[in-house]
Amino acid sequence: MSAILPGATIGILGGGQLGRMMAMAARSLGYRIHVMDPDPSCPARFVVDACFEGSWDDARAAADLARGSDVVTLEIEQISLDCLRAAERFAPVRPGIEMMRIIQNRILQKNWLRDEGFPIGEYRAIQDETEVAPSLAALGGKCFVKSASGGYDGRSQVKTGFDEQTPDVWKLLGGRPCIAEKALDLDQEISVMVARSPRGETKSFPSARNHHENQILVWSVIPSAVPQEIEQKAQQIACAIADRFELEGLLAVELFLTRSGELLVNELAPRPHNSYHASERACVTSQFEQAIRAVCDLPLGDVAVVQPAAISNLLGDLWLGHEPRFDQALTVPGVTLHLYEKHTPRKGRKMGHLSAIGATPDEAVARVLEAQALL
Ligand SMILES: Nc1ncnc2c1ncn2[C@@H]1O[C@H](COP(=O)(O)OP(=O)(O)OP(=O)(O)O)[C@@H](O)[C@H]1O
Ligand SMILES: [Mg+2]
Repeated sequence: MSAILPGATIGILGGGQLGRMMAMAARSLGYRIHVMDPDPSCPARFVVDACFEGSWDDARAAADLARGSDVVTLEIEQISLDCLRAAERFAPVRPGIEMMRIIQNRILQKNWLRDEGFPIGEYRAIQDETEVAPSLAALGGKCFVKSASGGYDGRSQVKTGFDEQTPDVWKLLGGRPCIAEKALDLDQEISVMVARSPRGETKSFPSARNHHENQILVWSVIPSAVPQEIEQKAQQIACAIADRFELEGLLAVELFLTRSGELLVNELAPRPHNSYHASERACVTSQFEQAIRAVCDLPLGDVAVVQPAAISNLLGDLWLGHEPRFDQALTVPGVTLHLYEKHTPRKGRKMGHLSAIGATPDEAVARVLEAQALL
């Protein structure tokens, strides 16, 4: 198998911030980039050679994208299988379609993890309304119920058992198949990003530590500074999952560390991940460059940490009062601003992030939060 060399064209399904940052890394390496996105003024629009307008199930647009591409990758898992199959008629699709089929459905994904023997929390798949009550009863107590497909940033999720109210889970999730998970008592959340190339080279980044509020990532830091033994376990799990899938590209493995000391897989994301934005500053190779190297079958880059770095997300909420005071935030040492050129701020919408380096992970987090507070 031969590498796809600079000068070639990479097609990306999805032109959001992840597609944009992948495109920027690809440009630095000398590639041409085409994206497909439903929104013609998507964040990647300004850094790519061509933008194909098409919804996530527009197989014709996906074929058009692939026709002019040497390889096709993606930045969002909700691309329909028809789109991926249409693209594959013209160019290799990486990650592969079978892996995407499993990951893009939470029920298939959880069942796969269970069948392959990876550690996960208790859950029940819910196919129709009659299964809601027995599933919640079987799990007992607090639960997270998540749509089988389509959710991100905590959307398409309902919490039950946290207070007196009993929400109509089935209705709230649109009357579609979903999965109920027992709410775990979390000590920490971490993630591990693995890259694997078609020739079978695998590299996994040191784990990131992630802090969520209301099911949305607030800040993240690399390295996570978890004890060595947990780091090893997390790396083993992530690499074994990538190998089992014969991954071609990136796979982010989100993990829960419970108060009782268990390390459990939360979910998988076959693409760059918000929790590795700090790799641009923390690691020798960023996740975005690594994604390009992996899908082009180039040698993978060094994943060593050069300096601890943290990011904090800038949500649309910040724009609702006044324009954020970026000039203030940038007075904090080691802080850098990343904006995605999204023109309509909305509550909960990821508009950009701040990053900060520090002598230690704690210092990096403290600085990025100090800068955020000045906005
Ligand atoms: N079973 C659970 N027990 C405890 N906390 C949970 C559970 N499931 C989800 N959460 C919390 O909600 C967050 C978001 O959940 P999850 O990763 O499943 O959703 P998502 O919408 O796919 O998020 P994202 O797209 O940001 O990764 C988790 O990172 C965690 O903080
Ligand atoms: Mg998640």
